Amino acid sequence: MKVGVIGIGITKFGERWNESLRDLLLDAQLRALNDSKIAPEQIDALFTGNMCADSLSGQLHVGAIAAENLNINKPSIRVEGACASGALAIRQGIQAIESGSAEIVMVNGVEKMTDVSTEQATTALMGAGDEELEGFNGLTFPGLYALLAKAYMTKYPKLNRELLAEVSVKNHFHGARNDYAQFRSEIDIDTVINSAMVADPLTLFDCSPITDGAATIILANEKVSKKMNTDVYVTGSGLANDSLSLARRKTLTAIPAGKIAAEQAYKQSGILSQHVDFAEVHDCFSIAEIMAVEALGFAKEGEAYKLYQNKDTYFDGKQPINTSGGLKACGHPIGATGIKQAIEATVQLRGEAKNRQVKNAEVGVTHNVGGSGATVAVHVFRKIR
Ligand code: COA
Repeated sequence: MKVGVIGIGITKFGERWNESLRDLLLDAQLRALNDSKIAPEQIDALFTGNMCADSLSGQLHVGAIAAENLNINKPSIRVEGACASGALAIRQGIQAIESGSAEIVMVNGVEKMTDVSTEQATTALMGAGDEELEGFNGLTFPGLYALLAKAYMTKYPKLNRELLAEVSVKNHFHGARNDYAQFRSEIDIDTVINSAMVADPLTLFDCSPITDGAATIILANEKVSKKMNTDVYVTGSGLANDSLSLARRKTLTAIPAGKIAAEQAYKQSGILSQHVDFAEVHDCFSIAEIMAVEALGFAKEGEAYKLYQNKDTYFDGKQPINTSGGLKACGHPIGATGIKQAIEATVQLRGEAKNRQVKNAEVGVTHNVGGSGATVAVHVFRKIR
């Protein structure tokens, strides 16, 4: 598989009270068009990742808005797969190109979350969990990931509280170097450990925030990509699912769908985990990043703590993770997150990441999770000259 990335556009993530869902989406779309230097009429199809527009803004039919924003009458579809909506939209875009039904595809992600209370946002997000087994009984996403953290840290006590906090410390370090990030301040371990308890053992700084934002990438087939002189390509796309509820999951100390999706994407790309120069992973909670780096094969199960002990996951370390700041510091506007990950991969491969640039970046991976691990999509991005 070889699908080129010919344009990227992203809004600032954060509390964007002056912009609507439509405004944010348009902003990202125009930035990507400007970056690619193509005209809206050249786009053959649009896919837009979004989870909560109906529950938080009373708006469905987001696909129509994406086409209307550009004043084009092209096929335009909303894609929903909880927090993995963005990566699922990318996969739809790739498949449209691979099937030959489209040459150029615009893939968007958008979410407007801060106009409502935390309680309303939490309830809407819990739509991604199992309503009968989890939501009905009062569980929320911080609670679900806290259960995973407890199970993991009981089985693998070498991941102590301080090393878990290192995930957020490193992600804030990167976020401080990303103009589009929601949180641009560095923090230390004490800040994480001493911040307000959300769901034991996860404190405020173990959690990704509630965020407004949009992101767009433009994909093209190989012929168009060559003409446009891009050297960034998606070469692998993996997707796997698992039980919606944790109660029905076979293990609570790993997210198996991530491993399956990674194996598919690596195989398609003809690479192994050791060839990956950097990864953008789904750190909705600090424990999720630990499980992600193990799913992607950067550490054996139970041994990810070593990467954090040795500070290997910084942009200039041996295995850079979340150079964008991740969901924790860059923010997590649900539908836009998977697209933001693809944009960070592109920025790194183009060599445009400035003070967070990974040296000699040739292969990047994105890992986007829906729910507590029920849907995981992994994509491989490569620099091909
Ligand atoms: N990390 C760091 N700071 C955060 C933060 C986070 N995750 N969330 C909020 N803050 C800050 C705010 O900026 C604000 O700072 P200020 O007082 O200096 O302005 C302060 O904390 C209070 O913000 P508020 O919005 O009132 O926080 P809250 O207590 O209502 O919400 C959480 C905090 C953690 C509960 C909320 O961010 C949350 O639910 N996050 C998880 C989202 C989620 O589940 N996503 C899906 C993942 S699968």
